[in-house]
Amino acid sequence: MAHSISIDGVDRHVGAARSRVDGPAKVTGLAKYAGEFDAPDLSHGYVVSSAIAKGRITAIDASAAEAVPGVVKVFTHENRPRTAWLDYNYQDQVAPPGSPFRPLYDDKVHYSGQPVALVVAEDFDRARYAASLLRIGYEAEAPETDLTRQQDLAYVPPKKRSGIKPPPGARGDADGAFDAAPVRLREDYRQAPEHHNPMEPHASTVVWEGDGRFTVYDKIQGVSNSQSYLMAVFGLKKDDVRVISPYLGGGFGSGLRPQYQLFLAMMAAQVLERSVRVVLTRDQMFSFTYRPDVLQTVAVAAAEDGRLQSVRHDAISGTSRFEDYQEVVVNWSGILYECENVSLNYKLAQIDTFTPGDMRAPGAVTGVFALEMAMDELAYATGQDPIALRLRNYTETDHTEDKPISSKELRACYAQGAERFGWQARNPESRSMRDGKELVGWGMATGVWEALMQKSSAQAVLTADGRLEIGNSTADLGTGTYTILTQIGADTLGLAMEDVTVKLGDTSLAEAPLAGGSWTAASSGTAAMRACREIAAQVFTLARGMENSPLANVDFERVAFRGGRIEVTDDPSRSVTLIDAMRAGGLDRIEAMGSAESDPGQMKKFSHYTHSAIFAEVKVDEELGQVRVTRIVSAIAAGKILNPKTARSQILGGVVMGIGSALHEESMLDHRLGRFMNHNLGEYHVPVNADIYDIDVIFVDEEDQANPMGVKGLGEIGIVGTAAAIANAVYHATGKRIRHLPITIDKVL
Ligand code: MOS
Repeated sequence: MAHSISIDGVDRHVGAARSRVDGPAKVTGLAKYAGEFDAPDLSHGYVVSSAIAKGRITAIDASAAEAVPGVVKVFTHENRPRTAWLDYNYQDQVAPPGSPFRPLYDDKVHYSGQPVALVVAEDFDRARYAASLLRIGYEAEAPETDLTRQQDLAYVPPKKRSGIKPPPGARGDADGAFDAAPVRLREDYRQAPEHHNPMEPHASTVVWEGDGRFTVYDKIQGVSNSQSYLMAVFGLKKDDVRVISPYLGGGFGSGLRPQYQLFLAMMAAQVLERSVRVVLTRDQMFSFTYRPDVLQTVAVAAAEDGRLQSVRHDAISGTSRFEDYQEVVVNWSGILYECENVSLNYKLAQIDTFTPGDMRAPGAVTGVFALEMAMDELAYATGQDPIALRLRNYTETDHTEDKPISSKELRACYAQGAERFGWQARNPESRSMRDGKELVGWGMATGVWEALMQKSSAQAVLTADGRLEIGNSTADLGTGTYTILTQIGADTLGLAMEDVTVKLGDTSLAEAPLAGGSWTAASSGTAAMRACREIAAQVFTLARGMENSPLANVDFERVAFRGGRIEVTDDPSRSVTLIDAMRAGGLDRIEAMGSAESDPGQMKKFSHYTHSAIFAEVKVDEELGQVRVTRIVSAIAAGKILNPKTARSQILGGVVMGIGSALHEESMLDHRLGRFMNHNLGEYHVPVNADIYDIDVIFVDEEDQANPMGVKGLGEIGIVGTAAAIANAVYHATGKRIRHLPITIDKVL
């Protein structure tokens, strides 16, 4: 059987629906998050944020704050230690090109909500109260936060962001083919800026261990990024700073880069020589990274039969004044369909906000929304069914890199999704379907995301009591990494899941990349499997070497690991328990390391993507302008599915976030103040239970060779295309094309 994890080729836990192993700890409160770790003599920092968006601080009067009993110290740019910013130019592991924001560096204000002071007190409430007494004078300049007014200044980023592919060069003559084509469409699309809003706000607890050594609990999607940041910025040695992040209450990309609360907590702990915790408030969660505002134009042209003759996709993305944030927005339009004339262009324009950052399927959410809405418009313009149009332009080749796609079961996604949804009953005419006083609309879209793998390692230890521990430093954002690694370990060594413990999120564990990009299952999963295989080989050698061993003269290829035993595959009566083998070898423990990285030959030969087809039903109350997403079917092709239960949860989460971006989520800038005004969950709307109806997830069979397990990753594909499917359904229901997300009541009426 292809891509099995177990040595005898039969997976027992991998591929089966298993509940989260960390579920009980999370629902009983045993799981601790960065802001919950305690320390003796712990002090609490409260962040004071800038009231202006641009200018400088003229004076800070902290005397009233300092007079509050229990206040330890007020930190500002005027008294911050000189040790901070030792390496002035340090860029974290995922920093875009530019000059990173440095909290409390000087008197300059770069964006509204910028931290300008930290009040440290014996408890949180005193710190917060004292913070309200700071008197800060500013000299304000007029900020520019309106991207539409900056677009004439848009530029191609001079330096590419590491890991982000710039748009490929043009192929054919997109503009000429457009002019010559019988069916032509050119429209503008836009998606509002969005903030991540994970349940757990960002927090850091820095524990002073004495002698200038620290244990740091940080909300981060990869502890090594925080560790190297602290080392560079504060001049610490690796042994001086251990970073731990066992659980995250959601990240979605907001936890990829070390955030300012980490800097502030470490700065205060170093100066005060005591432990400090800094937790951001919900409204301060709107004072750093966000999904950028992007202005897009998509021009598609086709023959009468719908065959694409030209695709042109232009995007101008907002970034900050200090960093060139980049994501892949337009490239998808050259990958998804067969077309000879393609022009893809991506520029940046600067506004006075913090640097935007990665948010679940960064770039694809934005770009695929525009492309897939344009494809729906083309389906109407050519009188084709939206699925038929996509099948007519189907491709097995990634023309942007001139490589075949390693596997692409997108046809099966269209077919199985349509079947489950009941698509064939759709009347293509808009405003043709009703349910009582509501208009009903059915729309669909394609989704795509890169299937990536990163260099990763993992450690495994088998102890003489027959228990296995696996670990590495990557994070489980709530995605199910603890669970799938448990399944992989259990199957490789033939153990029960209860006998396997997984440790993650600690710089003292084997090195692994940030948890992001949907690459964790492929990367950490493969490394863990290899570490366990190494242990299997060692314990087998011990078993075969036992006196009168039942495995004497048997090759490794002829055994199976199951039920805590090593058995001869075709004669299970001949077996040795792992415990007996270790005892016979006189060993208490067997340790091994495994590593994984993508195979350069495979990468050179193929492009690797996950795909999906999303079908949406909306019901629209014409009088109220209210849109409900009453049904979603999301059919996913993502290679081997390690755990259908946690996998389904990933897609559910992605779909819910897609509903959010289609209908609810919008960070609103007041351009006079240069400030995101709806910085709370009362005014920044995320979908709640009442907004969510039926979501049906299908995983189609797909075999892939990209990595030894054949997995492609699932964290991001669920959101891509979802907003387009919904917007297309809204058109089908109402006859209105709403090309600027979110689709709010004012746009529907
Ligand atoms: Mo994800 S946006 O790579 O955390």
